[in-house]
Amino acid sequence: MEIWTNVQRRQIDIFCREIGPDLNSNHQSPELQWSPPRKMSDYCLYLMSDIVSEAVLDESFETLTTEKNRFILQLVHRSYEWIGIVFQAPQIARYGLDIYLLPELARERQRLRDIFRGLLQKRIVREKAEPDIFSIYMDYKDPDTGEAFPLYELGAEALLLFGAGPDATSTSLTAAFFYLARSPEAYRKVCDEVRTAFSSVHEILPGLTLSGCHYLRACLDEAMRMNPVNGGALWREVLPGGAIIDGRSVPAGVDVGVGIYSIHHQPDYYPDPYAFRPERWLTSENSQHDVEVAQSAWAPFSMGARGSAGKPAAILQLTMSLARALFLFDMRTPADAHLASVGQGKKGEVFPRNLETEFQAKGTFSSILHGPMLEFKLREH
Ligand code: HEM
Repeated sequence: MEIWTNVQRRQIDIFCREIGPDLNSNHQSPELQWSPPRKMSDYCLYLMSDIVSEAVLDESFETLTTEKNRFILQLVHRSYEWIGIVFQAPQIARYGLDIYLLPELARERQRLRDIFRGLLQKRIVREKAEPDIFSIYMDYKDPDTGEAFPLYELGAEALLLFGAGPDATSTSLTAAFFYLARSPEAYRKVCDEVRTAFSSVHEILPGLTLSGCHYLRACLDEAMRMNPVNGGALWREVLPGGAIIDGRSVPAGVDVGVGIYSIHHQPDYYPDPYAFRPERWLTSENSQHDVEVAQSAWAPFSMGARGSAGKPAAILQLTMSLARALFLFDMRTPADAHLASVGQGKKGEVFPRNLETEFQAKGTFSSILHGPMLEFKLREH
């Protein structure tokens, strides 16, 4: 875990440098103390991709600072489009029909696999002084056969971590920025909490003080409620013997699922479900019963045996990134109305696409986001 934390800290520092104002600009002019508008969906994705690539492949993609590897992130998104379709119609993949029905997506997915195989081969031959996340996979031996993972399985694992991690974490962080920038009261409370708990940005590290920032965590939980990265149904097949679901008998072999977005917007669990209300997660503001009901239906990481393997790392990454950014900077939406509206719903669209208060994500298997645009200024402290 320490390797992961060191990588996170280093990359979050770079992220904060990149979103902040140009340090060479004329600080005498109040307006020039603000950064130009930053597209947070991009910066958050760069951050999370650089963390996972460095932690897993021992080689950061450096997407925060250079353009050269950003095309890989585009390929990951295209791969999610492929998964989004195949998830609904698995026969397409089972019978190899994707090369006929989805030729471009299938080609791009193959290209992504080839890139990862190449990166992995480089990683395997490189000597490492310190073990990293991938050393665990490389050193693993099957207890029965004593054999190590073959290269194709290592490649699949690296791609799984890279596919599953950055997109999900960046969606959650981007959503938190979107809602906080539009919720003055929540923004004030979370800033007060973080800026009181720590006296220097370097103190913002995993530990009791960070995990004791309950309002910060509530903001993230609420952002993940409103924008769960996998908003659709994660299908599960009913096993032999069938199942009783909500009083109905469902035979074996049937796929069942409920969209996580729908659960997360169900008023029985979340009164006023389209409103960003971090307070709903706090027993200081609600009854224990109401908080427990909210928690019982919260499933951004899915649940059970196939729930996210990355939840603890993700929570740490999200709390550290948001706390450090809020500690260092004041933020605001741009004065330009068009820029200020990037990411929100549009009047005239169908519900809930028309909600200006909700961050709009395009669902693939994951989420494709645009915005919000935000400006940052170094805080005086
Ligand atoms: C806020 C961040 C994250 C969210 C919301 C999230 C969400 C999810 C969800 C919903 C699933 C289940 C998919 C399914 O049931 O088919 C999943 C699976 C998984 N996630 Fe995450 N995830 C996050 C971060 C991460 C990170 C940082 C990693 C590791 C780098 C990771 C690794 C995985 C893996 C390996 C699986 C597959 C587990 C399995 O099938 O056994 N996730 N994630």
